Amino acid sequence: MQSIASPTGAASPTTFDGRPGLLDMRGRALRDLRISVTDRCNFRCTYCMPAEVFGRDYAFLPHAEVLTYEEIHRLAGIAVGLGVAKLRITGGEPLVRRDLAALIAQLATLRTPEGKPVDLTLTTNGSALRPLAGALAGAGLQRITVSLDSLDDTTFRRMNGVDFPVARVLDGIDAARAAGLAPVKVNMVVKKGENESSIVPMARWARDEGLILRFIEYMDVGTTNGWRLDDVVTAGEIVAAIDAELPLEAAAPTYRGEVAGRWRYRDGSGEIGVISSVSQPFCGDCTRARLSAEGRIYTCLFSASGTDLRGPLREGASDDELRRILEDLWGARTDRYSELRSAATSHLPRVEMFAVGG
Ligand code: GTP
Ligand code: 5AD
Ligand code: SF4
Ligand code: SF4
Repeated sequence: MQSIASPTGAASPTTFDGRPGLLDMRGRALRDLRISVTDRCNFRCTYCMPAEVFGRDYAFLPHAEVLTYEEIHRLAGIAVGLGVAKLRITGGEPLVRRDLAALIAQLATLRTPEGKPVDLTLTTNGSALRPLAGALAGAGLQRITVSLDSLDDTTFRRMNGVDFPVARVLDGIDAARAAGLAPVKVNMVVKKGENESSIVPMARWARDEGLILRFIEYMDVGTTNGWRLDDVVTAGEIVAAIDAELPLEAAAPTYRGEVAGRWRYRDGSGEIGVISSVSQPFCGDCTRARLSAEGRIYTCLFSASGTDLRGPLREGASDDELRRILEDLWGARTDRYSELRSAATSHLPRVEMFAVGG
């Protein structure tokens, strides 16, 4: 392990944010934990869970193999003790899991070693937000990110793979805002030949609605989406398309390690983000770990396998023992897949996006 300051000790001069924390082999602190609460989803997005592969008989995790809310809360608490300051709930689609507000309420009680509440947020496809937004906000969820790939109903229905109407996601976004979840961010994956023509209309809409829109380069996550470099619309192309109609200027990151590159409208009417994992990788600042629904920790979105925490947890491991597993794992971490992406990496096994929630 490289250099580990006690999470309760003095601020380590080597962490980028001055907080004490656990460093990996490249000097990156553990700051974010993305928690997948289910591998199931009611959508079949072409770039994530193509319907041809994830049909009726696809075997999702049986209930007994999925971490309980109590188990998630315990592991999240240990991670927060090690320096994690942001928790993002993901799936699959997290809102398909029953009574998610109960988990939010438990996680909202966690405090960093400095005594601050954690940044608690969730990524959803928005399909079930209307009935659930109020309960989630009431339980302590602060903000939310909704995935939305087009405002054009035909394009959206095709990309989500289950003919889901865009109007219901827009209604879900309204419900989230009305519930006080702020800011609402919107993620749009751009795939060549599918939704490039939606880039500028989405930008105009988000600007008019005061939503933070982030464009995501189509990534080679998992091995089932048939990814090809030719299908990627790069961040540069996305920014150029918007800039031609709505002039943009580069803006500084809000914090070190921010995934999205920020661009501001020159007329002061808002900003967009672009997540350029393919054309401009950001591994150098990657502070994220991912906990899968079955209790495995992945130190990279492109890892072949994760480290099991559910086994030790259910066999009665103490908090100290679980903490040590995390410390050893993070301390040995060298991941930088996106920086190494090449023909040589394309055939390596990789976890599926829906298993670790993006
Ligand atoms: P906030 O800025 O705090 O809202 O969070 P964020 O930037 O992490 O945003 P979000 O979780 O919505 O991430 C957006 C998307 O970026 C994800 O769904 C992934 O597609 C991609 N992404 C996030 N983290 C990583 C990462 O570590 N590596 C890669 N390659 N892609 C990532
Ligand atoms: N490339 C880029 N983004 C993806 N997402 C899912 N699969 C991919 C992919 N192959 C995004 C979703 C959602 C988040 C969870 O991950 O659109 O915003
Ligand atoms: Fe479901 Fe999200 Fe994957 Fe689409 S991207 S299939 S909504 S988990
Ligand atoms: Fe982090 Fe892996 Fe993504 Fe690089 S490819 S930013 S190391 S999750």
